[in-house]
Amino acid sequence: MRPQAAVHDGAMTKPAPDLLDTLRSLRQSRRFLPTPIAHEDLEQLLEVARWTGSAKNTQPWHLIVVTEPEANTALAGYGDFTDFLAGVAASIVVAVEGEGRSVAFDDGRLQERVMLAAAARGIGSGTAWFSSGTARRKVRDLLGFPSHMEPWSAIGLGHTDTSQAQASPQLSGRKAVEEIVSWGRYGVVSPSGE
Ligand SMILES: Cc1cc2nc3c(=O)[nH]c(=O)nc-3n(C[C@H](O)[C@H](O)[C@H](O)COP(=O)(O)O)c2cc1C
Repeated sequence: MRPQAAVHDGAMTKPAPDLLDTLRSLRQSRRFLPTPIAHEDLEQLLEVARWTGSAKNTQPWHLIVVTEPEANTALAGYGDFTDFLAGVAASIVVAVEGEGRSVAFDDGRLQERVMLAAAARGIGSGTAWFSSGTARRKVRDLLGFPSHMEPWSAIGLGHTDTSQAQASPQLSGRKAVEEIVSWGRYGVVSPSGE
C-alpha cells in the first residue's frame, strides 16, 4: 500500500500521517509569549535551513540569528510590515547573494522550510520582508552583512501567544481550490473535464 504522505530520510521513506495536517494548517504567527527559544531548537532550525535545496546547489544565503531584544526592536522599525519583530524571542535574518527569480525562489524555499521546522518543534514563526533598499541598508548596517549580500527578509520566532489574533482577517483566508487550480487545461475545474 502506498503511504499517503512520506518523509525522505536518506535512503528510507516512512509514512508521516501527521505531516499533511501540519503542512495544511501552518499559519504565520505574529504575537509571541516572552518565553525564550532553547538554543538546541535554534540549532535544529539552522540545520534544516542548511539542507534547503537551491538552484544548482549554490546555497546563496547567509543567516544571522538575532536574540537581543534591542536588535529585534530595531529590525521591527525598518520595514513597512515588520513591526511584529519587536515581540519575537529570536529572529533569523536571511541575506542572499545575487538577484532575480532563482535567488528569490531559493530564499522562499529556505524561509518556508525553517517555518515548518519551527512548527515541528512547537515554535511559532512569521516571515517579514525588508522590501525597500533603504530598509535593507539599515539591516546591513545593524548586523554587518557585507555589501554583496541583500538582507531581504527575517523569520520571526517565538512561542505563539494563542490568546491574541495573529493576523487581520483579510490577510488570513485562502482562495478556493477551483480559483487557483485547473486540470489539464486552464479553466477546467475538475479532473473529469467539467
Ligand atoms: C514575500 C513575502 C513577504 C512577506 N512579508 C511580510 C511582512 O513584512 N510582514 C508580515 O507580517 N507578513 C509578511 N508576510 C506573510 C504574509 O502576510 C502571510 O504569509 C499571509 O498573510 C498569510 O498569513 P497566514 O499564515 O496568517 O494565513 C510575507 C509573505 C511573503 C510571501
